[in-house]
Amino acid sequence: MAKRASILGTGSALPEKIITNFDMEKMMDTSDEWIRMRTGIERRRRLEDGKGASDLATEAGRKALLDANVQIEDIDLILVSTLTSDMRLPAAACMVQEKLGVKEIPAFDINAACTGFIYALTIAQSFVETGQFKKILVIGVEILSRIINYKDRNTAVLFGDGAGATVVGESDKEGGILASALKADGEGGKLLYTPAGGSLLPLTHEGLDQDLDKVVMDGSEVFKYAARKMVEVSIEALEKCGLTVEDIDYVVPHQANIRIIQNAVKRMNISMDKVYINIHEYGNMSSASIPVALDEASRAGFLKEGAIILIVGFGAGLTWGASVIKWNK
Ligand code: ACO
Repeated sequence: MAKRASILGTGSALPEKIITNFDMEKMMDTSDEWIRMRTGIERRRRLEDGKGASDLATEAGRKALLDANVQIEDIDLILVSTLTSDMRLPAAACMVQEKLGVKEIPAFDINAACTGFIYALTIAQSFVETGQFKKILVIGVEILSRIINYKDRNTAVLFGDGAGATVVGESDKEGGILASALKADGEGGKLLYTPAGGSLLPLTHEGLDQDLDKVVMDGSEVFKYAARKMVEVSIEALEKCGLTVEDIDYVVPHQANIRIIQNAVKRMNISMDKVYINIHEYGNMSSASIPVALDEASRAGFLKEGAIILIVGFGAGLTWGASVIKWNK
């Protein structure tokens, strides 16, 4: 019989520095009221200069190991989801490996933007199920403050920095990751991207002056897809394990916009008190949003043993995905 992968422990790390909407008002033509009403965001975190994604990722990873009661020596793969690694190369996962003081275990990054954690979790799930690796440290980390254009109010107010981690492996307890569904639509890539700094348009002095290395987004177009696609992929993941929306006990969604979350759960007829929300605290942390929310929801006691948990996200690519988990941490 195929092995089943479970989340054995969770952890998160947030920078100390808080940037409120009122701080944003001082930087650009925006208002606390506009940001709160249109997005639900009240504040976000920003990583101090001189630190990078691997620093926060390592801290979150250490906490997840402690929570899972697993020693780093027992981990046989480190998988990091990020679009804001310390450097273009090497991978953040390799830096985390060094910072955690282990050698030789494989380590690599993946990038599926805001859906990245669900993609990474699904990769880890498959590795455990096939017996390729036994215990995997899966981390979602983003330092979005470094790729945001603070002259563009359409995007600058939305994003924050953070890291969340899980230890994935076999469990003695019944349950685990029951099913996942992953999707992408490259045609939507132009809705959310960074124009320069890659192989197509390497960064020049002129490009830097024009902020071409910073995020550009057609927010209202992304918004139109998000709720609908989150519902479709949630239902697909549920169907894969023979469940329906009625079976869901708790939802931990990606935190991009409170209105997207409200719209998606309304379409599924799920009450908002079954949904974990922390967007007011952190804004959109891309692939860190779901693992940070999972860690907080778990610590707050919202994820009961045996409960059916849905995690679902949507982001650049475009990408979207969902996992159904019978909680057994
Ligand atoms: N402060 C004040 N006004 C603003 C701000 C701001 N920060 N930002 C935009 N506005 C203005 C606009 O200029 C526009 O003014 P106009 O009518 O005079 O032109 C007006 O507000 C309305 O703008 P819209 O874009 O229509 O506002 P909307 O209600 O769609 O909200 C938002 C914008 C919050 C970006 C929303 O569209 C959204 O959340 N989109 C989805 C984002 C998302 O999920 N991204 C994917 C994940 S991110 C990732 O993968 C990295």
